[in-house]
Amino acid sequence: MLGLLPLSLYVHLPWCVRKCPYCDFNSHEYRDGRGGPPFEAYVDALLADLDVDLPLVWGRSVHSVFFGGGTPSLFPAAAIDRFLQGASARLRFAPGCEITLETNPGTAEHGRFEDYRRAGVNRISFGIQSFDDGCLQRLGRIHDSGQADAAVKLAQDAGFDNLNLDLMYALPGQTLAMAERDLERAFALQPAHISHYQLTLEPNTVFAVRPPAGLPDEDAAWDIQEHCQARLAEAGFAQYEISAYARPGRQCAHNLNYWRFGDYLGIGAGAHGKLTLPAAEGEGEGRILRRWKHKHPATYLAQAGTAAAIGGDSEIPPAQRPFEFMLNALRLREGFALNAFETRTGLPRSAIAAPLARAVDAGWLVVAGDRVAPTEAGLRFANDAISLFLTGEDADGTVSA
Ligand SMILES: C[S@@+](CC[C@H](N)C(=O)[O-])C[C@H]1O[C@@H](n2cnc3c(N)ncnc32)[C@H](O)[C@@H]1O
Ligand code: SF4
Repeated sequence: MLGLLPLSLYVHLPWCVRKCPYCDFNSHEYRDGRGGPPFEAYVDALLADLDVDLPLVWGRSVHSVFFGGGTPSLFPAAAIDRFLQGASARLRFAPGCEITLETNPGTAEHGRFEDYRRAGVNRISFGIQSFDDGCLQRLGRIHDSGQADAAVKLAQDAGFDNLNLDLMYALPGQTLAMAERDLERAFALQPAHISHYQLTLEPNTVFAVRPPAGLPDEDAAWDIQEHCQARLAEAGFAQYEISAYARPGRQCAHNLNYWRFGDYLGIGAGAHGKLTLPAAEGEGEGRILRRWKHKHPATYLAQAGTAAAIGGDSEIPPAQRPFEFMLNALRLREGFALNAFETRTGLPRSAIAAPLARAVDAGWLVVAGDRVAPTEAGLRFANDAISLFLTGEDADGTVSA
C-alpha cells in the first residue's frame, strides 16, 4: 500500500559563467558584459511553474529545498529571497527545513552570504572540485584554490556552519598524493559534509570528445578512492552514500530523501519531480508520477505557468518500481527497510524475494530482520547489484520482464 512520503522541493537555476568541459548538467553559459541571466523573469517563471504543480501536493509540507544548477550563486540574494517568500506562501515549510544553495567559488562576493542567510538559506554546497591550481585549470574552472578557500571563509563569517564541499578525484594529472592533499585542504576548512565524486567522462561533453591527457587508469582511480575513503573516515566523515560523507547528524536531508525514494517537486528548466499520488475513489492503489520541465531556459521562460512548460508526465508502473527504488536505496550504506520498500513502491516484499536472494548469494547485500543493506562489495559494484532488480517478480511469484 503506497504511503504518504516526505516531500522535497528541487529548484533548477540553469546558468553558469562558463561551461566546464566535463559537465553534462543542464547549464548554459552566459558571459558578463552581454547582460546577465534574466533573474527577475526567471523567479516569476519558477513561481508560476510551482503554481501548476501545487495541486499534486495539496496539504503536504516541504522538508527540504535545494537550489541546484547551473550556478545558483549567480542569482542575487534578493531573487532567492523573493522566490522563497513566494514558495512559502504557497507551500508549508516544515520546521527546520534544510535549504541548500549550490555555489561556485568564482561567484562568491563579500556581503552576499549574509543576504542568502537572511533569505532563509541555511546550507551552502560549494563546487570546489580540487585545491590544486593545475587541476582546476585543466578542469576549466573559473576560480583558483585561493578563491575557493576565501569563498568558504566568507560563508563561515556570515554564520553558515552547514557547509558541503564537492571534490572530484581521478582528475587529469592527479596522483594519489595530490588527491590526499585535496582532502587535507578540505578538512582544514572544517566543513560538515564532503561529496567525493570520481570524474566521469559524460557523453555530450567536451571531455567525451577530447579526453584530457593524464587521466588515471581504473586501478589508479580505485587506489585513490580507497585511500581517500579511509582518510575521510579517520577525519570523522562517515560515508553514508557512494559519494557522500558527513560528520554525525550532517547528512544532506535533501539527497537522503531522493535516495530513500521520497517525493519531490522539480521546478525550473529541465527539473524532474517524483510524486506519489493517492488513489481516487474506487481507483485502487494510487500512482507514482514523474514530471519533468522543458530543458532550454528560453523555452522554459516563455512557457512556465502553462501546461506547455511540462516536458512530460509518466507513471512508474509497478513492474519498474523495484528497479527505480533500488537505483536509489542501494547507493546508501544504511540500505533500506523492507517495510519502507512496501510503503514507497506499493508492492509486497515478495515482489523482490528472488532478486534479493540472488544479490545475497552474490555477496552484495545482507538481510538482517527487516533491513537490507549493501556489503562493501555491494557498494563497489552497486550497478551490478541494482541491475538484478531490473526483472521484477510479481506478488504471485510470476516473473515479469
Ligand atoms: C551542479 S554542480 C555544483 C555547483 C556549481 N555548478 C559548481 O560546479 O561549482 C554539481 C557537482 O557535480 C560534480 N560533477 C559535475 N560533473 C561531474 C562529472 N562529469 N564527474 C564527476 N562529478 C561531476 C561536481 O563536483 C559539481 O560540483
Ligand atoms: S559550474 Fe557547475 S554546473 Fe556549471 S558547467 Fe561547471 S560543473 Fe557544470
